[in-house]
Amino acid sequence: MPLPPPRPPMTAHARLRRRTVGLALAAAPALWLGAWARPAARRPTPAQTEGPFYPRQLPADADHDLLRNGAASYPEGQPVWLEGNVSDLTGRPLAGAQVEIWQCDHAGRYHHPGDGGRADPRFQGFGRVTVAADGGYRFRTIRPAPYTGRTPHIHLKVRLGGRELLTTQVYVAGDPGNARDFLWRHLDEDARAALTVPFVRTGDGLLARFPIVVAA
Ligand SMILES: [Fe+2]
Repeated sequence: MPLPPPRPPMTAHARLRRRTVGLALAAAPALWLGAWARPAARRPTPAQTEGPFYPRQLPADADHDLLRNGAASYPEGQPVWLEGNVSDLTGRPLAGAQVEIWQCDHAGRYHHPGDGGRADPRFQGFGRVTVAADGGYRFRTIRPAPYTGRTPHIHLKVRLGGRELLTTQVYVAGDPGNARDFLWRHLDEDARAALTVPFVRTGDGLLARFPIVVAA
């Protein structure tokens, strides 16, 4: 019975490939465990321009409830709870940070001399809250209204210990004006997903959840 032909000698390339595959297989559990043990770095919430209407002077009433300005209450627009958590890139709650929002009234007017000072005085227009121990924040406001050239949006800023960590804008998912808005159109797909959130109907008006991730 003839002997089988001898196996050809392994080329240097084949030896290298076998060694590389072997090393990768040996390292796989360690890599997997490492990824599991370390929290994944989160993507920071994308920044956007501050725009021209950040208040020159903060209102005397600057709390979380934009539907009450001093003694006045604001009956216009669709009430919204805007809420979420503020965390750093590792997911740690950013307790003690401050979140500010500012936006136009239901008729599209800001409390700002640059917008003619015509905003409804019953609308607070600006609010500031301190982030809780669990990272949570919450505002009562209205679904933002469109104004000339802009789709509905809420301006938002995060500060920590005097440092500005983020300035951005929150958009309403599904609003037909988004696709025509010059700022929204220039966001890439990931940034649109991060800044555009559903305003969901609940038994207590609309609810918009906007999680915020910042490099602290
Ligand atoms: Fe604006």
